[in-house]
Amino acid sequence: MMYVSLRQLRTFETVARLKSFSRAAEEMHVTQPTVSKQIRLLQEEIGLPLFDQIGKKIFLTEAGERLYVACVDWFETWGRFEQTIADLKGIKQGRLRIAAVTTTQYFMPRLLGPFCAQYPGIDIALEVVNRDRLLERLAHNQDDLYVMGVPPDELDIEREPFMENPLVVLAPAAHPMARRKRIPYADLANEPFVMRERGSGTRLAVERVFQEWNVPLKIKMELGSNEAIKQAVAGGLGLAILSQSTLRLDPSQNEVTVLNVRGFPIKRYWYVVRPRDKRLSIVANAFLDFLRTHVQLLAPRR
Ligand code: PGA
Repeated sequence: MMYVSLRQLRTFETVARLKSFSRAAEEMHVTQPTVSKQIRLLQEEIGLPLFDQIGKKIFLTEAGERLYVACVDWFETWGRFEQTIADLKGIKQGRLRIAAVTTTQYFMPRLLGPFCAQYPGIDIALEVVNRDRLLERLAHNQDDLYVMGVPPDELDIEREPFMENPLVVLAPAAHPMARRKRIPYADLANEPFVMRERGSGTRLAVERVFQEWNVPLKIKMELGSNEAIKQAVAGGLGLAILSQSTLRLDPSQNEVTVLNVRGFPIKRYWYVVRPRDKRLSIVANAFLDFLRTHVQLLAPRR
């Protein structure tokens, strides 16, 4: 009889899925030595190595592959069991797992406030990650619902737009273009841009639009945070194209301004996404209904 803990199995599943101890530690919000220790204990109990390390890459051994299949099966069964229990208890209790892209940080927590007030027994696990990481979570069915601006075409999903998500061009308030009206978008070709990192939905949307317009995009600097980008724009490092959501409640707004460029704001939406055949828990359905009825309150100001 082997004695393995749920924690060891969760750690193993995460490392095996992400093929990295450090990313697993990050996702699980623990340190890397904690991850290594859990894996070591698990290996000792099983009596065979689970991973091979070649250079910096890790691979599953045959025992590791088999354990991974067993883990995925087991967690799926357990997830269904938890959902059944939550459904038996009804809407009053349960857990809602949402993964949302970085830029939703400007409205998701504020949306969840009134939802939690309406259903005080519901716990929320909100993972805020960029689009690439969110797609990985979606492909592995890790959450109930996903919120993003650029849903993937390659996965079989249902998508529902629930709020506008326009892209705007930001410049320092004193920029020479700031007073111009109806600037042709071709003029953006000469400007240095501060851009979000690769893997970000904003970045992808901007690249697609510039490609469609046949305008070269001069990237001066890449930053992984919308807030840092606004600071960089205020500091005169370049222009930026960001979701209008990033401008809400911003005290530094006076240092940056929205340029009047033809073709902007680029019209987009925020979508709530889920795998097509996923059976939603009662709690997740309650949140969808809540989104459908409450989001107009948060629609961007014009
Ligand atoms: P991002 O996505 O936060 O990953 O850039 C935002 C969006 O798609 O609008």
